[in-house]
Amino acid sequence: MERTFVLVKPDGVQRGLIGEVIARLEKRGLKLTAAKFLAVSNDLAEKHYAVHKGKDFYPGLIRYITSAPVMAMVWEGTNAVAVVRQTMGATRPWEAAPGSIRHDFALEVGRNLTHASDSVENAQAEIALWFSPTELVEWQRCS
Ligand code: CMP
Repeated sequence: MERTFVLVKPDGVQRGLIGEVIARLEKRGLKLTAAKFLAVSNDLAEKHYAVHKGKDFYPGLIRYITSAPVMAMVWEGTNAVAVVRQTMGATRPWEAAPGSIRHDFALEVGRNLTHASDSVENAQAEIALWFSPTELVEWQRCS
């Protein structure tokens, strides 16, 4: 079963949208595997966003993600990476499909509420960066 990594970023937490994000992912049929609410250290932020180092928005991105708590999660399901990205909508909110979280709640690319892994490989790396193996909970729905 595929797993992916999701962050509700500081703007999502501060606007009270953690529950909205979780509700949409649950209703989509995905299964929560791990979750934690934390303040992001500079070290973790720089590792998570290493691919963006050198871009003009990178310093602001690091300042922003370390500015207030985030909700980090792992979600599981068939094609979880693609399904979660679709539920979030395009990175640039003005390009996000109607009905997606970013379409419905965001305007600015730098305040786009959530982060979601963009490939299975990156999901595995991001899950390993943010969670220890013992924090991932294996569980089954009752049939
Ligand atoms: P995220 O999915 O967290 O991955 C990298 C983040 O960089 C992205 O969401 C955006 O929030 C942010 N980002 C991308 N492009 C820009 C930009 N041009 N200006 C500010 N932030 C950006």
